[in-house]
Amino acid sequence: MQILENISLKPCNSFGIDVKARYFTELHSDEDIVAFYSSLKPEHLPILILGGGSNVLFTKDFEGSVACIRSKGIVKLLENDNHVFLKIAAGEVWDDVVKYAVERGLGGIENLSLIPGNAGSAPIQNIGAYGVELKDVLYSVEVADVIAQNYRAFRPADCEMGYRTSIFKKHGKNRFVITSICLKLDKEPVLKLDYGDIRKELDKAGIKEPTLSAVRDIIIKIRSSKLPDPGQLGNAGSFFMNPVITADEYARLKEQFPSMPSFSMDGAFKIPGAWLIEQCGFKGKRFGDAGVHVNQPLVLVNYGSATGGDILKLAEKIIKSVKKKFGILLEKEVNIV
Ligand code: FAD
Ligand code: EPU
Repeated sequence: MQILENISLKPCNSFGIDVKARYFTELHSDEDIVAFYSSLKPEHLPILILGGGSNVLFTKDFEGSVACIRSKGIVKLLENDNHVFLKIAAGEVWDDVVKYAVERGLGGIENLSLIPGNAGSAPIQNIGAYGVELKDVLYSVEVADVIAQNYRAFRPADCEMGYRTSIFKKHGKNRFVITSICLKLDKEPVLKLDYGDIRKELDKAGIKEPTLSAVRDIIIKIRSSKLPDPGQLGNAGSFFMNPVITADEYARLKEQFPSMPSFSMDGAFKIPGAWLIEQCGFKGKRFGDAGVHVNQPLVLVNYGSATGGDILKLAEKIIKSVKKKFGILLEKEVNIV
């Protein structure tokens, strides 16, 4: 483990924001994590643990230490009649894990194909897509507790997981460094095909009896047609969460905006943030190098040299506009640093 100084973080964040870290290191193992925390001097603080950098927006240089988790390894811990338990090092690339599972006929995470970032970051906002969330397959999360200075494992029931949230995004932030996760995958997969265009795209491709890998391919196809590739256009996926409103609020808005789409959720209603933002006229709009994606208004993009401040300013403008028109407060999904 080597601690470098004054390093550009541009290659380490999918928004492509050009800021510097005062100190920078890559942690390749649990031993590196221990060595890193043991070696800290006051000038190295604060610490920012980073995975793939696909859910952060840097708004200024980071005056402490950025530590990128790069540990690797996928191990089969246990197998019974129905399940395989995989232990995955935090630094594994999430989509490599999905590929690994699909290639071995293990079901449960195929709908989460092509989500960028590390496996160790997946529990932080309980990644979700196409009708599946990480919590559906999560067995445990192993962490280094840098306050209590010990290692512990969390079971999902203790992770406070919800829509794009968990204990690790709330009060556990800066306390728990996720070192590995354990997933419980199905040996006899039950495919989840009811969300969005999955069935339509399978039909279009003439696939009558989909396999895990057919589902993975279709998800990749749908995602690639909707979401910008961070390699081509800086972004961090959905910048905002889809707001969830009460039945009363919903009834009031539906009267005023009869075409408003919605998804019912245990008595409440999830409203597509993309629709709200589009209605406010932001879809495809560009302000200097900060913009709102042309196909997916929930995604803010960096056309090249936008600063984190430019992106944040645009986000605030959108929040204000949506609040004024609909009375709904959009919440940021992306971690602002
Ligand atoms: P980072 O951005 O590196 O970190 C995110 C946060 O976690 C930061 O606060 C960081 O400090 C903290 N952190 C990182 N690693 C650790 C660790 N080991 N221990 C403790 N804290 C840590 N998300 C979805 O849920 N569904 C989607 O469909 C989806 N689609 C996306 C599409 C695109 C094109 C992009 C760019 C992003 C998308 N995302 C999506 C968001 C993102 O991919 C996920 O949030 C992902 O889990 C972030 O992983 P990361 O390793 O890049 O995290
Ligand atoms: N819509 C519009 N205008 C548009 C695009 C979409 O009005 O230009 C409306 C439509 O009503 C559409 C709805 O928005 O039906 C939903 O759009 P989409 O299916 O593209 O999904 P999303 O709700 O915008 C969410 C997640 C994504 C995830 C997809 C698929 C959040 C914040 N975002 O997006 O996750 O991949 O569903 O499950 O929940 C992420 O978290 O970074 C992310 C990309």
